[in-house]
Amino acid sequence: MASDTHVIIDLDALKHNAGIVRSSAPNSKIMAVIKADAYGHGMMRVATGLSDVDGFAVARLDEAITLRQAGVKKTILVLTGFAKVDEIPQFVSYDLDAVIHSEHQIELLNSARIQRPISAWLKINTGMNRLGVEPSSVVRICYALELSGKVRLPVKLMTHLACADDMSSTATEEQIALFDESINGLTGEQSICNSSGLLGWQHAQRHWVRPGIMLYGGAPFCNRSASEDKLKPVMTFKSTVIGLRTVKKGARVGYGGTWLADRTCLIATIGVGYGDGFPRHATVGTPVLIGNQKAPLVGRVSMDSLNVDVSEYRQIKVGDMVTLWGNDLAIEGIAEKSGTISYELMCGITDRVHRVIKGAMDGE
Ligand SMILES: Cc1ncc(COP(=O)(O)O)c(C=O)c1O
Repeated sequence: MASDTHVIIDLDALKHNAGIVRSSAPNSKIMAVIKADAYGHGMMRVATGLSDVDGFAVARLDEAITLRQAGVKKTILVLTGFAKVDEIPQFVSYDLDAVIHSEHQIELLNSARIQRPISAWLKINTGMNRLGVEPSSVVRICYALELSGKVRLPVKLMTHLACADDMSSTATEEQIALFDESINGLTGEQSICNSSGLLGWQHAQRHWVRPGIMLYGGAPFCNRSASEDKLKPVMTFKSTVIGLRTVKKGARVGYGGTWLADRTCLIATIGVGYGDGFPRHATVGTPVLIGNQKAPLVGRVSMDSLNVDVSEYRQIKVGDMVTLWGNDLAIEGIAEKSGTISYELMCGITDRVHRVIKGAMDGE
């Protein structure tokens, strides 16, 4: 029997979560982070579904161009900015905001031939040590950008928080303080917060917040569930039982024969595997939900299937629907059992998995 493996994308949950952002940061504009195909939820679908936000952030220029060409009119921020001089005119023609995170980009700007200045955000490295200019150089760089005549003034200012998912970390206050110190006297709009930042550090919300994971209903904090923040999962990953067999005590299940039955067991084979985006590193005991009962993974995950022990649930039939994560089974639990994070699981759903859209798109 063929499996019915699909993800449900719940646009009403997306809108609900956007409402939580709005009420949590009522004085800020919202830049919805929809990079990497909106964390696997479908970039265009999410952009259309999020009618109430003020702008979008993507990682790369081509993502931004796709949005503009599809008719998106709002602010679009390209988080990595530009890497080559010939990309800069596209920021003008598509009216995109660029992140400037290195002095090298200022040299590129100076050599670019553009008709109008671009809208730019100077990214300051306050502790993430990924992209961003050093705090001590911010005032000098802003002056250089002003002299270049290639950016709209005043230059906007941003940073990114490294540890905001942990409320007990002191790093976030340190990053916020360093940001404030480094921009002393500069008047551009500011943006500091991702999802956990905006929920946990209200004084850092500033002009724009940049939520990603909370829009999709993932937990922003490492030790607090999404439902505690009233967030609803947008993605529910489903498949079906495609086989049932009884194995005797001592039988091995799956590749490598790594799992050994310690008694006679009923094993259900589910028609989903790492070829669909279910993590191959999910460990024995990772739960799937069949009806309202949890059944533990046994053996290794294969490309197209995985096995669970359903000995306790004799009423199971081939064709029964199984939830891998989403509604009623938090994705964070599956991520933890697989040595990863919800972000990676959401982004990893492969193309062969059907997307079933629930909830109304705006305008429908
Ligand atoms: C610069 C930047 N801002 C905001 C976000 C959104 O973060 P989160 O999904 O944790 O809300 C990201 C995500 O990686 C990011 O890179």
